[in-house]
Amino acid sequence: MAGGGIAPSGGKNYPGKFTKRVFITCLVAAFGGLIFGYDLGVSGGVTSMDVFLKEFFPKVYLKQSSASVSTNQYCKFDSETLTLFTSSLYLAALVSCLCASTITRALGRRVTMLAGGLLFLFGALLNAFAHSVGMLIAGRLFLGFGIGFANQSVPIYLSETAPYRFRGALNMMFQLAITIGILVAGLANYLFDLKYKNHGNLAWRLSLGGAAVPAVFIILGSFFLPDTPNSLIERGKHEEAKAQLLKLRGIDNVDEEFNDLVEASEAAKLVKHPWSTLLTRKYRPQLVFAICIPAFQQLTGMNVITFYAPVLFKTVGFGSSASLASALITNGVNFLATFVSIGLVDKFGRRILFLEGGVQMFVTQVVVGGAMAWKFGTSGNPGELSKGFAATLVTLICIYVAGFAWSWGPLGWLVPSEIFPLEVRSAAQAINVSVNMIFTFAIAQVFTAMLCHMKFGLFFFFSFFLFVMSCFIFKYLPETKGVPIEEMGRVWEQHPFWRKYVVQDKGIAMGKAAQNV
Ligand code: BGC
Repeated sequence: MAGGGIAPSGGKNYPGKFTKRVFITCLVAAFGGLIFGYDLGVSGGVTSMDVFLKEFFPKVYLKQSSASVSTNQYCKFDSETLTLFTSSLYLAALVSCLCASTITRALGRRVTMLAGGLLFLFGALLNAFAHSVGMLIAGRLFLGFGIGFANQSVPIYLSETAPYRFRGALNMMFQLAITIGILVAGLANYLFDLKYKNHGNLAWRLSLGGAAVPAVFIILGSFFLPDTPNSLIERGKHEEAKAQLLKLRGIDNVDEEFNDLVEASEAAKLVKHPWSTLLTRKYRPQLVFAICIPAFQQLTGMNVITFYAPVLFKTVGFGSSASLASALITNGVNFLATFVSIGLVDKFGRRILFLEGGVQMFVTQVVVGGAMAWKFGTSGNPGELSKGFAATLVTLICIYVAGFAWSWGPLGWLVPSEIFPLEVRSAAQAINVSVNMIFTFAIAQVFTAMLCHMKFGLFFFFSFFLFVMSCFIFKYLPETKGVPIEEMGRVWEQHPFWRKYVVQDKGIAMGKAAQNV
């Protein structure tokens, strides 16, 4: 089988239990995902609230409220300023995760999470009290700074803390927290809109200000979290690291794992410039995956649903509350389906989930595209839509969302965080987060314009990428299930495609050493 099914030879089998401590530590750290999720989920709903549009984006409000069923439904939300509101955050996150990589390496993963929570809290408050578009966007920028810090540190924290046999499931608690954040935000939008529809600006202020709650969770959580053994060793705190590892693994002897962590850290210390090191041939597989995995994760088109499900449902003729309610259904499916991945990832591996999810999303995107072409054509004028059509569409979207939730969603964070060796881990993770943010930004920014211009073709556009990314995984991704994180190098050495990069480099190094003798 191309690329997969490689059992790492000489693999270690570190002893250790699935302790309560490891579970609670990972649970608290995963709170970092809540802030990201809340934010992902809140903007779509807020931008479909009429009072919010009237207050900040009156032109969009006029355009969409005057659009009748006979006007082009694909284009009624097309506004650059409106999408800038959603997407400005991701630009800020992109910048901040680059700074976060230096902080995580020098001061540890925990301090970075704390900084993330504080920045996010400030952004939430700015948004809740916003009385101008400027203040609104400034708030979004601070939220973005916070997310950049959290997303840079939390996945690494989880992968380093978890015993390797449960790393997949424990890391996926980050994604689970993201889906909870999205779901809670959707619920908040729905309930606040329902209850405070006639109370002026209260509904959207509560929705946006609600982001302060997950921010407080992560701030408090980070006070109680220990730093990871890997990070403590990296900063010369060996004794503390060993004590921490003993507690996390729940056994009396962690010497083998500890010595390997020290060895990895010694090797890492030789690398003074992680950024330029990452560009050398030896790290080609990690660099390729740090770029392709987040890019492809976004090119699944999932965020079109996350951000714009209410807008999308409104486009196909649902009312305002019905749209928010349908978006809640898709968010619920997103949350529940993540458990499938948590249950299966350490048993069946990463590749099979990536491939199955990819096929499922491909098929549903093609069918949704076809259904939209049939009903909306190129004029975007569907006439009356039947209840059956609307229900089928929601069902198809749910199947698509489930596919994402057990494949590219969680794996998009898990795989990068486990394949980078310590010496370049922080830098590579920063690339992973920034590429994710660039693509999240691009999709958030251009979606409404794409829908307006590409019409139903938008769904075929994403299905094309789903096909490409599934082929990419099939051919190039080795299986990383059950491989200790600091032993991951072996996986590349045994891979039919990547071995020439990794092994050849070793050969050159050995040749040079021989010449020097
Ligand atoms: C992605 C987000 C997406 C979310 C949906 C995350 O893994 O990074 O962009 O909105 O999953 O659950």
